[in-house]
This record gives sequence, structure tokens and C-alpha cells, in this order.
Amino acid sequence: MCGIVGYVGNEHAASILIEGLKKLEYRGYDSAGIAVINNKEINMIKASGKIKNLCEKTDDGKSISGTIGIAHTRWATHGAPNDANAHPHVSNNKKFAVVHNGIIENYMELKKELLDKGYKFNSETDTEVIVHLLDMYYDKDFKIALMKTISRLEGSYALGVICKDYPDTMFAAMLNSPLIIGVGVCENYFASDVTALVQRTKNVIYIEEGDFAEISSNTILIYSNTGEPVTREKTRIVWDVEAAEKGGYEHFMLKEIMEQPRAIKSAIEPRIKKGCISFEDSNIPTDLLEGISRISITACGSAYHAACAGKYMIEELARIPVDVDLASEFRYRRPIIDKSTLVIVISQSGETADTIAALKEAKENGASVLAIVNVVGSAISKLADYVIYTWAGPEIAVATTKGYTTQVTVLCLLSVYLAEKNKKIDAETALRLTSEIQKIPQLAQRAIDLNPQIPYLAKKYHNERSMFFIGRNTDYAVCLEGSLKLKEISYIHSEAYAAGELKHGTIALIDNDRLVVALACNDRLLDKLISNIREVKARGAKVLGVITERSTKIIPETDDIIYIPVGETLFNAVVQVIPLQMFAYYVALHNGCDIDKPKNLAKSVTVE
Ligand code: G6P
Repeated sequence: MCGIVGYVGNEHAASILIEGLKKLEYRGYDSAGIAVINNKEINMIKASGKIKNLCEKTDDGKSISGTIGIAHTRWATHGAPNDANAHPHVSNNKKFAVVHNGIIENYMELKKELLDKGYKFNSETDTEVIVHLLDMYYDKDFKIALMKTISRLEGSYALGVICKDYPDTMFAAMLNSPLIIGVGVCENYFASDVTALVQRTKNVIYIEEGDFAEISSNTILIYSNTGEPVTREKTRIVWDVEAAEKGGYEHFMLKEIMEQPRAIKSAIEPRIKKGCISFEDSNIPTDLLEGISRISITACGSAYHAACAGKYMIEELARIPVDVDLASEFRYRRPIIDKSTLVIVISQSGETADTIAALKEAKENGASVLAIVNVVGSAISKLADYVIYTWAGPEIAVATTKGYTTQVTVLCLLSVYLAEKNKKIDAETALRLTSEIQKIPQLAQRAIDLNPQIPYLAKKYHNERSMFFIGRNTDYAVCLEGSLKLKEISYIHSEAYAAGELKHGTIALIDNDRLVVALACNDRLLDKLISNIREVKARGAKVLGVITERSTKIIPETDDIIYIPVGETLFNAVVQVIPLQMFAYYVALHNGCDIDKPKNLAKSVTVE
């Protein structure tokens, strides 16, 4: 995830900014850059790769003089990770420099407008429109130019801006992307994350959505988006650097679990235009998705489980047959695919060796390949014909959480889009389903808030030797992922079973006190699931029910309950998995496991 630091004071800005960037390295990035005002000129240096490359170019910052500046670590979203796309970006006349986190959703319209006015673009980023807008609106008043600029931006931003005409003042602004102001003595800062600041100051101001701030060494003025001065309280941070990196959480995994509502929103919002789904950012030709006779989805690990949920959704709505394959099987089974098959590969890292091989196999057979990927510039994003990014931000914990939920979110969008394009649903239904998808970020937050009992459930069940997860339809797809999470990080044996299949053999393993986690979120199949629960209870199992308000009749059949907020059943996989991730996390915590780096596992498996 990109990181931002800004400094104004009396000390050597570049050294402070580079130190700040180093503290943000844990967030993951692929390039870095810095801009400092000196002698009324902006001096900017950028380097792709690690911060050490920026240090080499600047003699650890010593070669850049000045006491006010901004800096950035970029995690590519729009455009490859290279020097040109690294931040800061400067206006054509080098008057303004900007760093930005977030996504400007309307950047294509803005870019067209600015190109028509003669502005030259030097990068492929969405961010660059901001710096040209500032220049366009500048009439000797930095504040007015910034206000006019942010009023044009749709999407999310944490911004830091400097202007060479204002050698003592920097501006910061935020909407839907974190930004804080650090308060020092005769010096002030801003940053995307307290980690960048805790060694310099523990006094911070959390500005609110839509606010912007005018910051000099002795003053901090905060305004609402209409330019009215507002007061925001100063807070004292109690975290040390390590706690700050994890946002105060004990592990990256828990931090990433909690980030999911925001990550899911990032996957959805840029794809909704006037209430309709659009993948214009992926340049997918409409005729590619119209009239497809078959879809074949291939992936590994959790991405494969996302594909399993996708099959239910796409077949239900778009009525196109979907095959789901493990990439390691697909590549060697001479899959039957041709030009009329759309092959979808799913990968968080974009570097998984088996998924890359499956993608190549598909292309050799003449199929078009659409990749659903998180990491921009990864091998899969380069090899695929079309890419839909999940925009979850970097994942640090080995066991994926937000990577998986954003993949399923993209599949929700794709299922509605395919259904509409292939005339299997009318425009009104598409609008209704799209608005249901837009509710998912809120529902994800509710799924977290509704379940404060999970640490107690984990304490109760952490000594189990083996567990079963059962469910039907998308609930079954969620079982696969819930069960894998538990195995991966707690080392407790667990199996996911389609609830109706258990009786064909595996029920022999159900005995006294065995814990069965039963997902009962599909109203249509609830009575069937109740029968399956009774089968395991009759053999002595304990049942942890995962229910919604619409499935409360299952409560008497269970020993304990996890609550899922009610949403559109078909899309509920995204939300349902979150309490199961939390359950796995707390079980592993009770068992003293190395949660962020489980034994024998790698985040990205680049070997066969
Ligand atoms: C590894 C990771 C899993 C991940 C799988 C596929 O096994 O530990 O969490 O689901 O690879 O990774 P990908 O990056 O292709 O989604």
C-alpha cells in the first residue's frame, strides 16, 4: 500500500522524509520518491525498486537541501512500477508537486479535459491529473487551487501537496484514505500512517473525511471541504514503532482482517458508474463477455476457493457453464478449451507458478485469459489478455484474508455484469443486484461488530484435534476457505464438506464431541442443512452454527452461534468468511502459533 510523508520545519527535510519512508516499508511498495523546495524551486528525485535505490540516488537524502518536502512509497495501481509512475508528480511548469494514496475514479474524464487544454502527461497514473488541476486552478492562491481541485476528484485520496511559490506551507487532504497530521515543536508533519511519525512525535491530529489542512512549521489550519475552518482534537499515540506498523493489532493478519470493509469498497466503487457495473479500467471489450459459451476458472489455494464461490454466482445469474480447476491439475490434464471459452485465472500475488503455467496452457489453446489479480506489474498481470485488479493493497500475513474477499467481490461484480451482457437479467435486476453489492463493505463491518464472542468461542474450542465445516451452495465454498484458514494458522486438522455429501463416507469420522461448523446462511436450503446437522448431532458432534437473522430456526440445533448480517444470499460469501477468519485467528492465538508466518507455508509459491 502506498505511503506518504510530509515535513515542514527547520531541519534537513530529505533525511526526515527518507527515515519516514523507511518506517512505511512494511506496507509493501515498488518505488519511492521525494520532492523538496529549495531556493523557490522543487527538487524531485524518484527511483523504482527499494528505498535504498532512492538513498543511492540522493546520498541518503544529503544531496537534497531544503526544509519542506513530501515523499511517497508507491504500490502500483495505475501503471507499471517504474520511475515515471513513481510519486511525486509535478506540474508541467514544476510549480506543484503532489503525492497521493487512493484511486481517482474519474481520472480518465479529467485527463481528457486536461489534455484538451494542452497539459502533458508524463505517467500512466491516475494521480497526475491532480497536479495539472492544481496548476489549472492556480491564480496566486494555493488554498483556492487545492479546494477547486479536490472538488473535482471522485474516489479516494490522501494527498500531500507543495507549491514553489509557498516555500513555508504544505497542504494535505483526505477522503476515504487515511491521513494524519503530526504535531511537533517548530515543525509539523503529515503521513498516511502513524508508523512514519512515532519516532519524531507522538502528538497527532486525525483529520476527518473531506478535510484539508494548511501546514507550516508553527501553524496547522484545518478546513472542511467547503473551506470553513474546523477544529480537530490533538491525540497522543501510545504505540511504539512495531505496534504502529500493525495499526495497534498484535498481528498483520488481524489488521488485514479488520481492513476488509475498506478493501472490499476499493474493489467495488471504481467499478460502479451511475449505479451500473463497468470494467472500463480493465479495457475488456464488451464483445468478449457477450456470447461466451463456457468459462473455465483456474487458481490455487484460497484463490481457488474464491473461484468455487464464483462458479455458483456466475452460473446462477449468467447461466453460463463454469468449470473450476486447481491450476496444478488444469495444466496437466489437457483441458478442453478453445476460442469460445473465457479462461479466468485468479491470483493475489500474480506470481504463483502453477497459475502462470495454467494461463500459458490456456493461451496456447487459443482462449482469451482474464486475470483477477492484486499485484500490479506481477507476472500474471503481464501475461493475461485482460486484468481486473482487486485493489486490496499489499497483504503481509501469509494466510490471505483481504486478498480472498476482494477476489470474491470482483466475482460478484463479474457475475452481474456477465448476466446483463448476456441478457439473462434485465436492467432493473442488474441495478438492484449492483446496489446489493455496494452494501457488502458495510455488511463486512457488521460481520466483525456482530461477533465479539469469537475470542471466547476460540478459547472453548482451541483444543479440538479435528473439525468439519459443512454447508451447501456458496456456503460450501465458504466452508472450503474457513477450513483452510483454520488449518493454515492453527495446525488443527479440518475438512470442508458439502453438507449433503458427508453421509457418503466421511460421517464415519464424526464421533463424540467432534466440532462441526455448520454454515446456514442459505434460506432456500436451510431445511436440508438442518437434516445434516441432525445427522452429525445424532453421532455426538457439537455444532457451531453460522447463521443470519433469517436462519434463526437453526439455533436450537446448535451449541454456539456466529452471526452473519443479512445481505443478498448469492453474494454473502464475502461477508460470511470474515468471522471464520477471526475464529481461525483466535484459535491459533490460543495455541501460541506463529500466525503471520505459519510453518511450512509461503505467501507466494513460485515453484511447482
Ligand atoms: C499460497 C498462499 C495462499 C494462496 C495461494 C495462491 O499457498 O499461502 O494463501 O491462496 O498461494 O496464491 P495466489 O497469490 O496465486 O493467490
